[in-house]
Amino acid sequence: MSANYVSLQQLHTFGLPVNAKRVVIASQAQEIRQAWLDSRQEDLPFLLLGEGSNVLFLEDFAGIVVFNRLKGVEINEQADSWQVHVGAGENWHQLIQTLLGHEDYGLENLALLHGCAGSAPIQNIGAYGLEFKDICDYVELLNLDSGEVVRLSAAQCQFGYRESLFKHQYRQGYAVIAVGLKLSKKWQPRLNYGELKNFDPQTVTPQQVFDSVCHMRQSKLPNPAVTGNAGSFFKNPLVSRQQGEAILRDYPNAPVYPVGDETVKLAAGWLIDQCQLKGKQIGGAMVHPKQALVIVNYAQATPQDVVALASLVQKSVHTAFAVLIEPEVRFIARSGEVNAMECLS
Ligand code: FAD
Ligand code: EPU
Repeated sequence: MSANYVSLQQLHTFGLPVNAKRVVIASQAQEIRQAWLDSRQEDLPFLLLGEGSNVLFLEDFAGIVVFNRLKGVEINEQADSWQVHVGAGENWHQLIQTLLGHEDYGLENLALLHGCAGSAPIQNIGAYGLEFKDICDYVELLNLDSGEVVRLSAAQCQFGYRESLFKHQYRQGYAVIAVGLKLSKKWQPRLNYGELKNFDPQTVTPQQVFDSVCHMRQSKLPNPAVTGNAGSFFKNPLVSRQQGEAILRDYPNAPVYPVGDETVKLAAGWLIDQCQLKGKQIGGAMVHPKQALVIVNYAQATPQDVVALASLVQKSVHTAFAVLIEPEVRFIARSGEVNAMECLS
């Protein structure tokens, strides 16, 4: 590491001992663009982050890391909904609390999720029966080369399970600078997940849903402020209906969720758990003892520890179930993002 590198350890939730050549904290869209133009001119890698809660740094980053801190929440009343325009650097959980205080409801199931509002569309965040796409009106995108701002409707973003156009067509050279949310004035509770099923849909309040989601999350997900992690390390795999049925023959209680007629989603956490990997350690990395889908930095882990453990997890599940699980977390090497599947093989 050169003397003027900046530590990223406190700037991403895995808390790994990695550095960047330069760090920019951007409170204006123009600062993001300027950092991009500087990176082009100086031939340096460029990385835009929110709160670094969905990334795994594999080594020091040889370029400029920009942390998006574009602020601002504007709430506009429409006939049957609240239209909320949110700066991309607003903290997601705080946004939900602000909206609850204003009696604008609909985001409660996504409470306590880490990261910035502007990162929410990237992988179409989802939890407890709600996805970002369900409340998204539009996403505002800055073209970092031209300076042009475009507004994409939710339909144009091509949202899917942990998917969107921002992982593909708009992955490089663009910054999400704001998101628009549409919250119906007729609040409809979503109560189909875990403890939420115990509520009476006629009497439940948004605050109760919010509190219950926070409680469920706190009971099984590690707090990155205490133990480094990036949430679910792997995505839940989509497999054929036949493959799902084969697993159900051997394990009648396996969680298998239908997705369309020919596809089912399996619970990667359950698959890992069946391989008896909870608590498995390599170096300072460990499979979380309460949620097998999360890898934690429990004792000064190195990126290599995390990769070795993730690779072991992936291979074990493949050997036991013939299912290849793919990382949800974005892998960042010296010059930028790399293919996570290739890193594990
Ligand atoms: P970062 O990690 O900073 O960035 C993620 C990716 O988005 C990177 O590729 C980055 O380059 C890109 N990016 C960031 N900002 C921008 C921008 N403005 N414009 C363009 N690209 C950008 N996720 C879920 O979906 N559901 C969960 O339930 C969930 N639970 C979690 C629990 C824990 C304990 C943790 C640590 C994470 C969890 N996550 C979950 C993952 C994470 O919270 C989300 O992916 C979140 O949206 C990431 O936000 P961030 O600001 O930290 O993004
Ligand atoms: N399970 C086990 N053992 C485990 C973990 C899970 O048997 O160690 C079983 C559970 O009993 C349940 C099933 O697997 O039957 C699913 O578990 P859970 O409800 O905890 O959800 P998940 O599939 O592990 C997903 C998301 C989370 C999100 C929760 C709640 C993915 C990759 N993960 O986890 O998102 O918070 O549902 O909706 O889709 C994230 O993306 O970072 C994340 C935390």
